Amino acid sequence: MSLDGRTALITGGASGIGRAIALRLADAGANVAVLDLKLDGARAVAGAVASTGRRAIAVQVDVGDAASVARAVAEARGALGAIHVLVNSAGIADFVPLGDLDEERWQRMLNVHLNGTYRVTRAVFADMTAAGWGRIVNIASAAALNGGGPGLAHYAAAKAGIIGFTKALAHELGPSGVTVNAIAPGLIDTPLIHGAGAPAGLYDTVVARLPVRRIGQPEDIAAACAYLVSDEAGFCTGQVLSPNGGANI
Ligand SMILES: NC(=O)c1ccc[n+]([C@@H]2O[C@H](COP(=O)([O-])OP(=O)(O)OC[C@H]3O[C@@H](n4cnc5c(N)ncnc54)[C@H](O)[C@@H]3O)[C@@H](O)[C@H]2O)c1
Repeated sequence: MSLDGRTALITGGASGIGRAIALRLADAGANVAVLDLKLDGARAVAGAVASTGRRAIAVQVDVGDAASVARAVAEARGALGAIHVLVNSAGIADFVPLGDLDEERWQRMLNVHLNGTYRVTRAVFADMTAAGWGRIVNIASAAALNGGGPGLAHYAAAKAGIIGFTKALAHELGPSGVTVNAIAPGLIDTPLIHGAGAPAGLYDTVVARLPVRRIGQPEDIAAACAYLVSDEAGFCTGQVLSPNGGANI
C-alpha cells in the first residue's frame, strides 16, 4: 500500500497508539501532522517522521476546546496542505465507580473523546469531500462493545458514542469518496493504561484469558489503521475493527 502524496492528521499522536500510527503511515509515504496536548512529545514524533523523508509538523491542541481545534487544524493545513487522512486517537482514561462519577468527570470524558472526535472531524472533512477521497479512522475501544469493566461507565459510553458517530458519518460521506471506520482496541500496552489507576494485576489477568496470550502493542493497532486508510480498503466503511487478542470473539 502507498500513501505517497497523502497528508494525515493524527490527534493524540505524541504517544502510544497515535504515535505508532503516525510512524506507520509515514512509513507508507504519508506526510503527517502530529497533534497533541503535549507539544514536546508531538515534536519528537514529527521529528521521527521527518527523518524518514516525509513532511511533518507538530501542533499543540486540546481537542476538548473548540477554539484550540480550529486553530490547530488551520496550522496543520497551512503547513502541509489539505488533509486526506484523519485519525482521532487523543484520549484519556481513569477508573471511577458510579458513586464517584460526578458531572465534572463525566463531562470531561465525553468532551475529550466524543466531542473531540466530532470537533476535529468537522474541521477536517471538507478537504476530503472536495478531493473526492478521504479516510477517517476513529479510535474507539473494546470497552464500547463489552463495557470494559467496573469504573469505566463514562469511558465506555464516550467510546460507544464514537462508534455511533462513525457509522452515521459513513452513510453521509461515502458518496463523496470518504470512508469512516472505527478501531476498537482491546488492552494495549501504553502510558494511558499505566497512568489510569488500573486495578492491580490487570495485565496478567487479561493475558491469562486471551487466546493469543500476550498484551496488545500500539503497532497492532497501527497495522489495522494502515489497512483502513489504504486505497485497498475503499469498500470498507462504517465498520468497527477490534484487534483484541481474542478477548471478544
Ligand atoms: N491503551 C489501551 O489499552 C486502549 C484501548 C482501547 C482504546 N484506547 C484508545 O486509544 C487512544 C490512544 O490511547 P493510548 O493508549 O495510545 O494512550 P496515550 O496516553 O499513550 O496517548 C493518548 C494521547 O492523547 C493525548 N491527549 C489527551 N488528552 C488530549 C486532549 N484533550 N487534546 C489533545 N491530545 C490529548 C495525550 O497527551 C497522549 O499523547 C485513546 O483514545 C484511548 O482511549 C486505548
